[in-house]
This record gives sequence, structure tokens and C-alpha cells, in this order.
Amino acid sequence: MPSSVMPTSSMGDGDPSPVAVSTVGLRKSYGDKPVLDGIDLRIPAGSVFALLGPNGAGKTTVVKILSTLITADAGSGEIRVGGHDLAADPQAVRAAIGVTGQFSAVDGLITGEENMLLMADLHHLSNSEGRRVAAELLERFDLVEAAKKPASTYSGGMKRRLDIAMTLVGNPRIIFLDEPTTGLDPRSRHNMWGIIRELVSDGVTVFLTTQYLEEADELADRIAVLNDGRIAAEGSAEELKRIVPGGHVRLRFTDPAAYQSAASALREATRDDEALALQIPSGGTQRELRSILDWLDSAGIEADELTVHTPDLDDVFFALTGGTDPQPGRSSLPSQPKEAVR
Ligand SMILES: Nc1ncnc2c1ncn2[C@@H]1O[C@H](COP(=O)(O)OP(=O)(O)O)[C@@H](O)[C@H]1O
Ligand SMILES: [Mg+2]
Repeated sequence: MPSSVMPTSSMGDGDPSPVAVSTVGLRKSYGDKPVLDGIDLRIPAGSVFALLGPNGAGKTTVVKILSTLITADAGSGEIRVGGHDLAADPQAVRAAIGVTGQFSAVDGLITGEENMLLMADLHHLSNSEGRRVAAELLERFDLVEAAKKPASTYSGGMKRRLDIAMTLVGNPRIIFLDEPTTGLDPRSRHNMWGIIRELVSDGVTVFLTTQYLEEADELADRIAVLNDGRIAAEGSAEELKRIVPGGHVRLRFTDPAAYQSAASALREATRDDEALALQIPSGGTQRELRSILDWLDSAGIEADELTVHTPDLDDVFFALTGGTDPQPGRSSLPSQPKEAVR
């Protein structure tokens, strides 16, 4: 082959980056209830992809289909995982992937080490190779001390770590993590984030499902929001934040009379009577801020506090999934004032 001929990707559409996972029009119904109603995915190798959605959105169903545990409905388009056609060669797909389910595969009756050795057996590693790999992974996931104890005595975070260690025995290039941090305390969650980042730095593709916007924001190169059986939006966290008009300037008053007169002058502002605060929709650009400040000056309004809020993933999520306006008093992710002017 002449050296000028570049190898083409399996997708053959001009994008040279290798694709780890792709689906076209993926569908799945249970009885007459459609769960997935035409999902298109294209996940570049070596990236972290987050499938974000509330409970019951169909995240686990996607993971189960992509990891060959259940089949997609007839009429779905081609599914490719790790360069293999999933329908034609499920064995090859299974060899390329690792799956950590939402419900742990850890056997509590045996020790952590025995769980690891069982996995090594399943992957047909020799005795000595199995022991070597198990010891290495137990060390890497900080489980050496616990290795000889029954896994039922492990904390939630330890069980998840063992679960991932077991997944890595087969040295998969693509890993599915179905809600890896649900139910973990904040410290174990941060610990798990570190583990996931480390996997990616080894070149592994991570397909992650989560209900947490913050987690997707922290970890994922690309995020898809699953709602009503469809991908409601897909992009980087930054791209997603740009599609919602969640930005605003918030003016807060301490004097109720000043608040009232500002509220009646600023008719387009949203009122928060309890907090004595007004929200003015704004993209937060210098020009917009200047015009708001000029306007306040000319109206003789002096707020006690002025903060600029840029949209965050909560705004995106609520806008896309048709929830009510998360402001104010929402719980999952406080909106961070990016910049405050006094
Ligand atoms: N085996 C099943 N039989 C019938 N309905 C199911 C089955 N598995 C999942 N579902 C339904 O499919 C929907 C999506 O479930 P799931 O993929 O587990 O969502 P998620 O993982 O996002 O919480 C839910 O409404 C669930 O009740
Ligand atoms: Mg699930």
C-alpha cells in the first residue's frame, strides 16, 4: 500500500476519528410501551460519554443493548461497538467491552480477591496470570487490605471499586458504567471520578450513565440528555449550556420599598418577593451589563447586590425535559455566580 493512502474509519463518512460506539435509530419497547424511540449515538474512541437522564428514562436499557445483554427491536439501524457489528458478531463485542451494572456483580459471600480470581477464570487467564492481574488491580483500587475479607463487609464505595476492578480484568477498551456513583457519599463519589479519569488517560472509552448533571459536567467530553425515549440534546457541557437562555442578572434589595419601586419599573424582570430579588434575562455580555447598569442609574434604582448568572446544566436539563423553572430554591446544583459586580 502506498504510504500516502490513509486508512479510512469504519464509518467511511470522512470523519477520520475512530468510533467506539455508534447506533442509528435505536429502538426498544417493552410490550406496547416504547422506551427508546430512535436513538442515534456516535462516540469517539478514547472519550467519556455521559448519557444523562432521570430515573426510568431508559439509560440502563441502552447499556444493556450495547453490551449484548438484551436485543434492540427489529427496525433499529446498525449498532457498532468496538468496531464490530453487534447483531452480526456479539461475541467480538463482548470481548471488547467491560460492564459495571447499576446493581453490583460482586458476590458478597466470597472475598474481594476470590471475586477477582473468578473473573480471571471467566477470562481464561492462567492461574499465575490471574493472580498477577488480581493483585495488581486490588492494589490499584486500594483494596489490598480488604482483599481477604468477604465482600459483604465492604462499604458501598469499596464494592463499586471492586466491581470496576473486576470489569478491568479482561482489559476492555470500552467500559460501560451504569450510574457508577448513585448512592455513594460525596467522598466516595470524588474517588470514583478520579478512577474514571484515570481509565480515560489509559485510552479507554467510557460510556457512563448518570442522573447527576454535575457528574456529567465534571467527567464527560460529550453529554446526551435522554428524555421521552429520545436524545433531547447532545454536545459538550459548554455547548449544552449555550442552548438555553438561562442567563440572567439578579438584583437584590434589602429595603422593601426600593424593591417594590424597582419591580414596578422593571416590568420584564421576574420577581422573587420573598428574597426581594429581581431577575433580568441577560446573556451576561459586557454590552448587556452596561445597558442594564445605565438603565438602573437613569431610573434611580440602587440594588444592594448585583450578580450575573450564566446558565448551568440544571437550566439545560430543566429546559429540555420540560420541568418547571428550577429557579429559585432548586436543589441539585446551585447556580454559581460567574462574576459579581457591586
Ligand atoms: N424488563 C422490563 N420489562 C418491562 N419494562 C421495563 C423492563 N426494563 C425496563 N423497563 C421500563 O423501561 C423504562 C426504562 O428503564 P431503565 O432503562 O431501567 O431506565 P433508567 O436506567 O434510565 O432508570 C422504565 O419505565 C422501566 O420501567
Ligand atoms: Mg438504570
